[in-house]
Parts: sequence; structure tokens; C-alpha cells
Amino acid sequence: MKKVLVATVKPFAPAAVDGIREVLDKAGYEMVLLEKYNSPDEWKKVAADVDAMIIRSDKATADVIEAAENLKVIVRAGAGYDNVDLDACTKKGVVAMNTPGQNSNAVAELAFGMMLYHVRKGFDGTSGTELRGKKLGIHAYGNVGKFVADIAKGFGMDLYAFDPFVDNADMEKDGIKPLSSEKELYKTCDFVSLHIPANDKTKKSIGYDLLSVMPKNGVVVNTARKEVIDEEGLLKIMEERSDIGYLSDVAPDCREEIESKFPGRFVFTAKKMGAQTSEANINAGIAAATQIVNYLEKGDTTFQVN
Ligand code: 3PG
Repeated sequence: MKKVLVATVKPFAPAAVDGIREVLDKAGYEMVLLEKYNSPDEWKKVAADVDAMIIRSDKATADVIEAAENLKVIVRAGAGYDNVDLDACTKKGVVAMNTPGQNSNAVAELAFGMMLYHVRKGFDGTSGTELRGKKLGIHAYGNVGKFVADIAKGFGMDLYAFDPFVDNADMEKDGIKPLSSEKELYKTCDFVSLHIPANDKTKKSIGYDLLSVMPKNGVVVNTARKEVIDEEGLLKIMEERSDIGYLSDVAPDCREEIESKFPGRFVFTAKKMGAQTSEANINAGIAAATQIVNYLEKGDTTFQVN
């Protein structure tokens, strides 16, 4: 009987675990559940004899991949796979996949939750501002960016995007004005919502140069990865300009400094929670389980990323 390990420090909603179990049961597979584990060693022990793994932001290092001696496929139930050592997977002949689009709406909704919380001053009873009529820049027009655009239309925002990998015509047909550079996006937009992956090119790529050209009261909304921000540049511009705001799903490493120096100009979640909804967990979890079954039974490598 094939064994699939669901290894999640941050557990899926119970309904998602039920859904994953149902898919695996149907295929005649055994599901092993390892939630809220305390160390990679705990994970490595349970991983030793499994054929497949489903993870979230869990760090699938070379160590973990090697310890999973029978591993054939690992699926990151979500979009970003910067937590998976792809070289280690490839070296071992393990297929790595993600489940693009499955949790995108949840992330997009959180971006607006943070924006509203910020412009309404944390609902503290004082007068805030509105989103309607403001310029929203979507930095990368992928799955999450598209949901962000849809929601923004309901708020009556004016939409812009920068994405060198998407045709301008595709953005235009969605009612979005494509801009030709990052700089132009940050210069034009009152809010910039980040949806770029974290990789060698993008890490620390959003810093002083871009933030300093934002209009008055410019706000960056980061539901992507904290690593794409150059925190030195962020601190510098927050120091120089008292109007700039930074909202982030997962606080930056310089959280304490921002919290002590710039009250009212940030919103940070307690824990990465863009995809923390039942719906997103169910969608991504079931997609991951289905992809595993399809790969192990039919060799289907859709969404392979290595
Ligand atoms: C993703 O890349 O899909 C999101 O960041 C979600 O991450 P999570 O599964 O750890 O919540």
C-alpha cells in the first residue's frame, strides 16, 4: 500500500484533511498525518518510508528529501515552492509540484483585509480614507494578481500592473493598464500589491529605489514573501517619509524597529495566513492529493516544478 505523508507545521483546516484522506482512500493509499511537528528530525523519522508528501511552507531541505528514502513525489499545496530544495529532489529522482491558483482567492482577500484595516486606522474610531478611486498597482499579474484585480474592481479602484511575462493585451482585456517598468508602477500607484515569487532575482528587489518614488501616502501590500523586500531600504524610506505604509503577511525581520518607530503605518499578521482559509486549504490539499495519485498511477507530471 502506498503511503502519503501530510507534513504541516501549520495544519490544514480539518475539512481539508478529510478531503485529502478521501482522495487517498479512494486510490487505496494510506495517509500519515504529521501536524505541528517540533523539529525536522521528527519529520525525517516519519518520512523514511513514504512514497509521497504533501507540505505547505514546511522547509523541505536536502536533508529531509534524502531521509525520505522511498519518496517519489512531493507536492507543495500552494503556489510558492521556495521552501523546497528542488536540486535535492532532482538528484534523487523525486518529482516536485505545486498547486497553482488553488489558494489565490484567499491571498487576494487578505490583501484587501489589510488595506481596509490600514486605511480605516485599525478601526480605532478616527477618520480614515477610502479605496475607491485610488490607483492600485499589481506587481505581477499571475493567479493571485488576477483575483486582486477582480476584487479591486468592486472597490472602484483604478488598476495598473507590471508583469514582463504577461502580454499587455491580456491585461488590457481585463481592464488593467499595463506599465512598462517596476519604477513606473511604484511611481504611479497609491497602493502596490506584491505577487512576485521569492527567487534569486526577486529577493530584496523591492527597496529604497522603488519605495521612494511612490506618491504621497503610498502603501506597499506584501502577501508574497517577506524576503522580496530590502528591509534596509524599507526602514530608510519609512524614516525619511512619514506618509509611507507597509502591510505584510508575515512580519519583516525588522518588525520591532518598525513597530517602535512608525506606529499606525504598518499591518503585520501574526503568522503567514494568506492561504489560511478552509476553502483554500480544501482546494490546495485536494489538488495536491489528486496530483500525487495521478503521478503515481499514470505518470502525470502536470505542475512539476523541477
Ligand atoms: C503559497 O505560496 O501558496 C502561500 O504563501 C501559502 O502558504 P501556506 O500554505 O504556508 O499558508
